[in-house]
Amino acid sequence: MERTDDSFTQFKTDELVEKDKAHLTHPWQIFDVFPEEGALPIARGQGCYIWDTDGNKYFDAVGGLWCNNIGLGRKDIAEVIAKQAYELSYASSFVDLTTPPAAELAAKLASLAPGDLNHVIYTCGGSTANDSAYRLMHFYNNKRGKREKKHVISRINSYHGSTYIAMSIGGKPGDRSPSFDYEADLIHHVGCPDFYRAPEGMTESEFVDSLLQEFEDKIIELGGADKVMAYFAEPVMGAGGVIVAPDGYNRRMWEVCQKYDILYVSDEVVTAFGRLGHWFASKEEFDVQPDIIVSAKGITSGYIPLGVAIYSDRIAEVVHQPGHGDCFTNGYTYSGHPVACAAALKNIQIMEEEKLFENVNVVGDYFHEQLKTLEDLPIVGQVRGYKFMQCVEFVKHKQTKALFPDELDIGKRIANNADPKGLIVRPLVNLNIMSPPLIMTKEDVDFVVATLRESILETIDELREEGEFDSDTRLSA
Ligand SMILES: Cc1ncc(COP(=O)(O)O)c(C=O)c1O
Repeated sequence: MERTDDSFTQFKTDELVEKDKAHLTHPWQIFDVFPEEGALPIARGQGCYIWDTDGNKYFDAVGGLWCNNIGLGRKDIAEVIAKQAYELSYASSFVDLTTPPAAELAAKLASLAPGDLNHVIYTCGGSTANDSAYRLMHFYNNKRGKREKKHVISRINSYHGSTYIAMSIGGKPGDRSPSFDYEADLIHHVGCPDFYRAPEGMTESEFVDSLLQEFEDKIIELGGADKVMAYFAEPVMGAGGVIVAPDGYNRRMWEVCQKYDILYVSDEVVTAFGRLGHWFASKEEFDVQPDIIVSAKGITSGYIPLGVAIYSDRIAEVVHQPGHGDCFTNGYTYSGHPVACAAALKNIQIMEEEKLFENVNVVGDYFHEQLKTLEDLPIVGQVRGYKFMQCVEFVKHKQTKALFPDELDIGKRIANNADPKGLIVRPLVNLNIMSPPLIMTKEDVDFVVATLRESILETIDELREEGEFDSDTRLSA
């Protein structure tokens, strides 16, 4: 589909921005600066590109919010959504009702998920999927007569969503606003497997050993197998800074869970549906067989909201046991929404037919290699990531890894300098995060890396002028 500049004349950008400022409360809105800065209204999308209401075009290296997997503006999936909305826009999946797309998708997910993960709970997104996993495990343990087994362990810097429980499971210090409350009695956090920030002088294997020891110590401190219900982990930590744990770490954490009868919940909200080159990354990449996989985002490539918690036969045997008069009181009006399930089925079909994971495997490695070249810049501390999840970490001193002051908002400054050059990256304090559509090409990678380099250099010049950065080591222009 061709876009023309004319198609944007219908939008009154200033009015939109004012309406938005007056009436829309944004997720993670920063109250200090929002009244002045407002929001950027995005009006169109095609493939990896988005256009604002003034017709400016950007390469969206963020893929929406880790969710735009097959690319924007595809007519084939839009048609499936329209057809389903016309045929049956809604039917409940409560108690004993279902729809063809809901039943078909559940069976398809069971066939794609590893091992005995054969049972699907539908939700509205990733947060509610984690919330449902949490409640499912309560139900499971209570039915097993293990009412005391309720402690949950997750990790510092993890992100699991923003319901009360999902946010409490998450461990990102930046999200832990003192103006919110969090569940603290039953939810605990252990160290983040970020080797870049490991204690000075530690080898990688010593670092992993120390994390494993900390995990086991925490389990024992909480009362061991009788008291600890679950461990939540993203295979690669996303919003916490694209942390790819050292080799063997995920598997060894899983082995500890096996030892203490702790359910392993793999939060694949980001990592599934191709972002790491597989339907699900847990087993294929990390040799971890979870008890529950939670997913969302790429399951519909963001065309429409949907989340899932896919759980094992072992859990089902207990939870589904008849004869107790039990009712599984967990679910939402839109659980198993037929339009969302139809979109997911089409999305999966597109990924299969167009062999998108092959592209992820080839272009993903190239993306990482090319981004790595930015490490010659004096404020790039580390480029890290895997396949279509990548991140650049900025530091004030490469040697000490000291950060710029928070108020400089270095990630945002660089992202702001990239915007007018037609590139959107996701700023996160001292990071720029990228999770592009799975259709990104090597030429796109070249554009992203060159533009990011230019934006970083421009920012370095600004910082020098402001006296915030005094190194002369401008290594390349
Ligand atoms: C790993 C992970 N889990 C859960 C969520 C929450 O998903 P949602 O925003 O769809 O509720 C996210 C969102 O970014 C995520 O990255």
